[in-house]
Parts: sequence; structure tokens; C-alpha cells
Amino acid sequence: MFEKFKKTLFLKKDLEGLENYIEGFVSNLDGILKEALSGTLLAGGKRIRPALFLICAKNEKYDVKYLTPAAAAIEILHTASLIHDDIIDNSLLRRGKKTIHNVFDKDTARYVGDYLFTYSFYLLSSYRDNEILREMSETSKLLVIGEFDQIKTKKIFGQSEEIYFEKINKKTSSLFKLSCVLGGILSGSVYSDIENMRKFGRYLGIAFQINDDLIDISIDKPRYKLDKPIGNDIRQGNVTLPLIYALKNKKFREKIGSMLTAINEVIDDETADKIISLIYETDAIKTAKQKIYFYLNEAKKVIKLIHGNERKSGLIEICDFLLNSVEKTK
Ligand code: IPE
Ligand code: IPE
Ligand code: MG
Ligand code: MG
Repeated sequence: MFEKFKKTLFLKKDLEGLENYIEGFVSNLDGILKEALSGTLLAGGKRIRPALFLICAKNEKYDVKYLTPAAAAIEILHTASLIHDDIIDNSLLRRGKKTIHNVFDKDTARYVGDYLFTYSFYLLSSYRDNEILREMSETSKLLVIGEFDQIKTKKIFGQSEEIYFEKINKKTSSLFKLSCVLGGILSGSVYSDIENMRKFGRYLGIAFQINDDLIDISIDKPRYKLDKPIGNDIRQGNVTLPLIYALKNKKFREKIGSMLTAINEVIDDETADKIISLIYETDAIKTAKQKIYFYLNEAKKVIKLIHGNERKSGLIEICDFLLNSVEKTK
């Protein structure tokens, strides 16, 4: 499970500033938007993406007042994608609270998500910089296409690892890349630093999503007592990397037999638990963890190429935070 990452002094203070900024944004809303966002945007969340942004922006010209609206835009865009994602994943819990479509309905959740998407662009437009708006638009496109891929590939149990990686590059790495790249651009960094930040974000995003997929099938967690439901990927038929690896095992395929039901049927809790325990009888968890270590290692190699000691140590801390979570996931 994730614990709060050890933040360097500037990050701790500046993420608190971000929290105040986001609270100010929500308090100026009213009605359903205010109610819905108090239970999602203000319900916690690790704030990893704005942390990456601030770390990448850290140089001698670092000006937190200037950077905070962009940090908020990144977290707001991320939250929008979660609200939409929970609709398609039929997920009932997010950040320890009932999801918006669970409290209200799917139409409401869609529009709350749309509002956040739009607001993130509004925040970034104040920088009057076409490059960051282009990066942001490209990311939003990829997020949507990644989620389409998720819908299209549901219950396709024979899908290859390549299809999985293509999907997570779009739905997860895109926003990690954006967070790093915006930090690079808004701090006036040289081209090579920005491109290395992009690479770093891609590797970290891949590792992060595989770990998230492992958390979904972790067996040491009560199903409904977390910030989001455990086993939901299996119940919904989302084919994640550990499942892809398990399906390579002939015995596993034979044992699960007819458990993976028809395309429109949700797999019940008991069957999902059974599938999860069978995954643990294969090498799938170990192999998936090895993939995470591989990508974290690639990310760490790229850190060496990025200028600035505070950046380097901040990015290493984020990698170690993920590593710690991977090691704890059973
Ligand atoms: C969840 O992201 C979505 C994934 C890409 C797996 P986080 O795990 O960063 O969610 P919060 O922001 O902390 O709630
Ligand atoms: C990440 O995938 C979702 C987005 C990038 C929007 P998941 O579906 O695994 O995320 P969680 O597990 O619901 O947070
Ligand atoms: Mg989901
Ligand atoms: Mg997940």
C-alpha cells in the first residue's frame, strides 16, 4: 500500500499551498459541483503528479506562486480522468469515498468530469504559452483513447502484453509525462532536460500502473476498506498484466475454465477471489514485479541525465516511494 512519500522541505510546503489553492477552487463552486468535488478532489489522493511537476520545475528561478495554477491544472485533469474512469469501471469507491456516479448518477459524473477537464485548460491558458497547451491537449487525447482501449479490450483474455503496454502508455504514462514536461517547460529548461523528463515520466507511469494492477489483486487487503475497491479489475474483466502472465500458464487456464464469463456479465466476488488466489499460484506476481523493477531502473538511469541536484533527489524519492509500495504489495 502507499504511504505518504518523504517530501523534501520545499515540496511539503508547496504541496500544502496547492491543497489550499484547490480548496479555494472548490469553495467558489456551488450546488452539485461543490458537493461532488468535496468528496473527490478534496478527498485526499497522493498528489504524485503535481509533485512530479514541482520537482521538475525546481531550479534557481523556481517561483511557487507562478507554478501553483499549473500544478492544480494537472491534479484537476487527473481527477477528471478518475471520475470518468470510475464510470466505465463501475467502481463504487474512490479516495475512500463513494464515487460521484454512485452518489448521484452517471450523467452527473460525466459532466462533473467534463467541468474539471475544461477547468484544467482554463488554468493553463493563463500562461499564454502554446507549447504547454499543445502538450496538454495531446495528453487529454491520449487519456481518452487509452480509456477507449480499456473499454475495447475488456474481457479479451487472449490479449498480448504489447496491447496492454500500449493501453497503459496512453491512459497512465501520458499524464506522468505531461507533469514532468510542464515542469521542464515552465522552468525554462533546456530541450534535452525536457525530453529526458518525458522519458522519465513514461517509465515511471508504466511502473506505477503495473503496481496499481497488483494492488487490485492484493490478497492482504479487506475488499471494501480501502481508498478504492480491491478485485474490481477482475470483476469487470479488465485484463491487467498479472492476469496476462497468469494466462500464459496452462494449469491456470485449465483451472479457471469457465470462470471468465461472457462479455456483458460481471464476475461475482467469490469467483473473483478464486481467480485472484489462482493467479498467486503462478509466477505472474513475480514476473509483473520484475517488470516494475525494470522500468524503475530505466527511470533512475534517466534521472542521471537531468540537470539539478534537487530535481535528481526529488525524482529518486518518488521512485523509492513506488519501490516501497511494490515491496509491500502481497
Ligand atoms: C490512480 O492514480 C489511477 C492510476 C493511474 C492507477 P493514483 O493512484 O495516483 O490516485 P490518487 O490520485 O492517489 O487517488
Ligand atoms: C487508470 O487505470 C485510470 C486512468 C488513467 C484514468 P485504473 O482503472 O487501473 O485506475 P484505478 O485503479 O481505477 O484507480
Ligand atoms: Mg479504474
Ligand atoms: Mg487500477
